[in-house]
Amino acid sequence: MLKGMKVLGIETSCDETAAAVVEDGKKLLSNVVSSSVNLHVQYGGVVPEIAARSHIEAIMPVIQQALDDADCTWNDIDAIAVTYGAGLNGSLLIGVLAARTLAIVKKKPLYAANHVEGHIYANFLTQTTLPDFDMRTSQPEFPMLGIIVSGGHSQLVLWRDHFDYTLLGQTHDDAIGEAFDKVAKILGLPYPGGISLPQKAEHGNPLTFKFPKAKMAGKYDFSFSGLKTAVLRTAQEQVGKDHSLPSFELPGLLNDRQKADIAASFQKVAYETIVDKAALAYEEFAPKSVTIGGGVSANAGLRQQLAERIPCPIEYPDRKLCGDNGAMIATLGYFHALHKQPAADPYTLEIAPNLSM
Ligand code: KG4
Ligand code: ZN
Repeated sequence: MLKGMKVLGIETSCDETAAAVVEDGKKLLSNVVSSSVNLHVQYGGVVPEIAARSHIEAIMPVIQQALDDADCTWNDIDAIAVTYGAGLNGSLLIGVLAARTLAIVKKKPLYAANHVEGHIYANFLTQTTLPDFDMRTSQPEFPMLGIIVSGGHSQLVLWRDHFDYTLLGQTHDDAIGEAFDKVAKILGLPYPGGISLPQKAEHGNPLTFKFPKAKMAGKYDFSFSGLKTAVLRTAQEQVGKDHSLPSFELPGLLNDRQKADIAASFQKVAYETIVDKAALAYEEFAPKSVTIGGGVSANAGLRQQLAERIPCPIEYPDRKLCGDNGAMIATLGYFHALHKQPAADPYTLEIAPNLSM
């Protein structure tokens, strides 16, 4: 493997059109993210057709910007990595078709990256030429416990080495980010709930309501849908209505204090659900490192609870690398190449919207 290998990473699995150049799987040279989130706010969640259309408009300018910011021409790029799953069909298609075409035209090897693995690989970035990035001081060691907390996934994964891992457990219904988004909608807080709900919760008392923590058969499995329903029922009771009250009427009926207390009480149980199981896995498997990835990992409250409960120092990716980005995909692509994972055929690579770990 050539030293100084530069990988262009392309990520379009949801509502972010993202591209980045990473050198040697650790040095971030550019990171361009164009989000269509503002177009989805009025719907309280991502609308797949709008996301796909936005990707079409943004993909080529974003890729060009990533090359320019990295001070690279196509000659400098050694490989392309692209997210081929999991994600929204239309969104994935745009990134994969762009990557396939560029791999053929520019004659570059193409690596197909699993989005969820990618979130954890943001932790392998330790250097950058860019301003305002707080990078990890070293790459994580194996065995590594990975905690994935995003809008589409909540998973605990034990990595013995690159591409050698076991999925310990995952959510049986909503992902944690999805639960934040749905509860935010019940309370009339803007999308994404991962940002708006913790802000509201700062003004509330987390002990006001006792929301249930799901009991699962699988030791490391999660569930968030019961918690979301408990929030809905409590909100309906708080405004003196029965369970037939449509949830869209709640934001107008709940007062600020009730919203803040519900947000704080929900958030406490949501974090504990993840942290309890992560702490249990840490005890059982004694990993050398613990990594976290996904949009919700930017959350200060979750980071604090993990730090209190897991007796090993946890380093985090910069907050700008917690949500969807091309850098994590470029990094994962580098390790595909380093560990001789087969490159994808640019003429046939298909999307895998339901790809699992
Ligand atoms: O990883 P991500 O960007 O996309 C998926 O792969 O799903 O995660 C999106 C989720 C959303 O549910 C959103 O509410 C949450 O991450 N989120 C955050 C933050 N930004 C987005 N949660 C906590 N803190 C944030 N700053
Ligand atoms: Zn993601």
